[in-house]
Amino acid sequence: MALEKPEQLRLFFAITPPLELAWIFHQLAQTDLHNCRGRALKPEQIHLTLRFIGSVEPDTALCLQQAADKISLPRFELLFDILGYWPRPKVVWSMPSQSPPVLSDLAARLEQACVTCGLAAENRAYVPHLTLLRNARQAPARGTMQPLRWPVEAFALIRSETLPQGAVYTELQRWPLQ
Ligand code: 2AM
Repeated sequence: MALEKPEQLRLFFAITPPLELAWIFHQLAQTDLHNCRGRALKPEQIHLTLRFIGSVEPDTALCLQQAADKISLPRFELLFDILGYWPRPKVVWSMPSQSPPVLSDLAARLEQACVTCGLAAENRAYVPHLTLLRNARQAPARGTMQPLRWPVEAFALIRSETLPQGAVYTELQRWPLQ
């Protein structure tokens, strides 16, 4: 793992669900997905990454915040209806089987912001997913779920810290959608 200099911040852009919805995802992970034998994300950890940034200097964080200030996009809604498993990162996720173009527009605008601020371009395609379980050993029994509706009204810049109690995410700034 790359060593982080003390002044660096490990960041990502994401959307976070309203707390009641985060609890529903958390309970789904703990009950219906129990057989996957993974570690359920806590409700306050649940998010959908728009652009992972990694460790950057405070100047770069400021540049990213200024670039995000210029983004103006409409609110949208996501309907999470499918479940799946990626064996290599051992992650069980939920995804919307169809997502509105504005979600990829938002991810693309944030990608552009990262490149403008001097970060390397992301070379992998953007696959919007919401991690429910980490260190999971098997795939969910079913690939579908009772659909969950998430009205998205804002996006955020989040700091990630690995502490003894696990990953702690702190929202640094939130930008409303129109
Ligand atoms: P994941 O949930 O699929 O693990 C914070 O780490 C968030 O950024 C997580 O949602 C994680 O996705 C995502 N992410 C994307 N690329 C990453 C990377 N290279 N390292 C760590 N997290 C990454």
